[in-house]
Amino acid sequence: MKWFAQAPSNIALIKYMGKKNENIPCNSSLSYTLDKYTSTVTLELASQSSFKNSENLDQFAIQRFLNHLNYIKNIFGCNENFLVKSTNNFPHSTGIASSASSFAALTICGCKAICDILNKPLPSLQEMSAISRKGSGSSCRSLFSPWALWDGEYAQPIELPTLHHELIVVDSSKKLVSSSQAHKLVSTSSLFVNRPQRAQKRLENLIHALKILDWATCYQICWEEFWDMHALFETSSPHFGYILPETMNILRKIENMWRKINDGPVVTIDAGANIHLLWRNNNLFSLDWSN
Ligand code: PMV
Repeated sequence: MKWFAQAPSNIALIKYMGKKNENIPCNSSLSYTLDKYTSTVTLELASQSSFKNSENLDQFAIQRFLNHLNYIKNIFGCNENFLVKSTNNFPHSTGIASSASSFAALTICGCKAICDILNKPLPSLQEMSAISRKGSGSSCRSLFSPWALWDGEYAQPIELPTLHHELIVVDSSKKLVSSSQAHKLVSTSSLFVNRPQRAQKRLENLIHALKILDWATCYQICWEEFWDMHALFETSSPHFGYILPETMNILRKIENMWRKINDGPVVTIDAGANIHLLWRNNNLFSLDWSN
């Protein structure tokens, strides 16, 4: 028997940064689902658990993946072993983190396989979101598209306008500080004290602005939000950072565009140097990076 599941990656506009036990976030987050960037997981019954991946994952990442499958097996009381295969349709060099899509795909595939074997009903998307959260926090948002709102144990879909996503890859090398380390380090920043309140206020304002398509306000909120997260990084002890000179060059060009025509893309940056642009579907521009 063989089972298969696919899940997309996502980019947060209101960021998950800082967590409590079991990946319970310090604040709610809102993400746009990147349907083009997917991970696929297959599970096959086997005499021993093992893992095959198209990327060169290190031993720690492989163990984390297998631990998550064990966690799902324990929930349902399943004793079977599986050969786990995982692939991404986006190469490493895109700079998109694969943990959100791969853990969401593993959660869906694991639940499907185990429920089939044990003849149990498949959990709801919300229940699977909560299961996925334990493996990788941001993966709990990848079960919904195009928007997901994560508050506490699981994410839920939220109806907001569909946008057009574009990624500008500035750097595709492996991060020096992983997001797991970042979650811990940010609590040492003096700016972290009111972070949940700031994120919550922005979340409410952004949802309202998206609903009425007040695009300039969306841009302003998302701009403040990614800088808030990066300011936490830069004021942690020890401090660390991801923004590169080329990232700044591009950000300045986008700022200029907005200044000139009071329009352009909404911009956000994850824990990395790459730039995510979101355009309104009826308003696609082509940015000229040469000036
Ligand atoms: O799910 P994690 O532990 O990899 O954390 C992801 C955190 C950010 O990507 C930096 C922000 C987010 O909300 O996705």
